[in-house]
Amino acid sequence: MSAKLSEHTGEQVVKLEHLKKSFPDNPVLRDVNLTIPKGENAVIIGQSGIGKSVLIKCMVRLIEPDAGRIEILGHQVNSLEEEALNGLRKKIGFLFQGNALYDSMSVRENLEFPLVRNKMAGTKKQLERQVIQALDNVGLRQTIDMMPSELSGGMKKRIGLARTLILQPEIILYDEPTTGLDPITSKEISQLIIDLQRHYHTTSIIITHDISCVKITANTIHVLKDGSLYTSGTYNELKQSKDAWINNFFN
Ligand SMILES: Nc1ncnc2c1ncn2[C@@H]1O[C@H](COP(=O)(O)OP(=O)(O)OP(=O)(O)O)[C@@H](O)[C@H]1O
Ligand SMILES: [Mg+2]
Repeated sequence: MSAKLSEHTGEQVVKLEHLKKSFPDNPVLRDVNLTIPKGENAVIIGQSGIGKSVLIKCMVRLIEPDAGRIEILGHQVNSLEEEALNGLRKKIGFLFQGNALYDSMSVRENLEFPLVRNKMAGTKKQLERQVIQALDNVGLRQTIDMMPSELSGGMKKRIGLARTLILQPEIILYDEPTTGLDPITSKEISQLIIDLQRHYHTTSIIITHDISCVKITANTIHVLKDGSLYTSGTYNELKQSKDAWINNFFN
């Protein structure tokens, strides 16, 4: 079988069926079913420790699920050989919770790193152009030769976002993109997520506790509770929900 990935043209870019993942004495994901259409911003909310990060790590097999089917961009993630899995991972950007930049590398080197690692770097000049374009996307060209220690929290988030985008992924997984930021910077980052999604037509999965981020970014919100999806809906639908548990989140 060829390890090459075929182009995916279907509408559902993420399809999870009966996904299960337990850690010793800790059944985290019991039965998660979720579909996300192309171009959508899907937000996942749920209490701390409920399994949101585990869920998106399963999608790229940073964590091996125990059971269930994971289809991403038309590929069965569970059964992909390593080469094909790596090919698929290139199409999926992952902005990790905490989104650590490499502290010993300059902003430029942080952005060059994914290109070089994925053999997507051309000449020195092309590489520089890609880095500058990525920085322009997040409005931070002037930081190119700075070190992470010289950046504010919000700037680090933006550089993290630029580093994720530089590979031009089709899907971006955001794990708490606004945590630790003041409300205004948090709104700016949420708006930036929307602007970039419109510009690059990516599909986004955004995990967040930040209700303003939910409001700005979400097309559909999925609520994770007790190991499965409790409910899904738009911001207005969930905000008006009579369910006391949902209400706690939104009011
Ligand atoms: N590699 C691991 N080994 C063992 N247990 C793990 C591992 N990763 C996560 N867990 C456990 O799985 C559960 C869900 O963790 P997860 O990080 O997905 O929570 P979360 O919903 O993202 O929480 P938060 O909102 O605080 O980020 C937790 O009980 C956690 O301790
Ligand atoms: Mg988490």
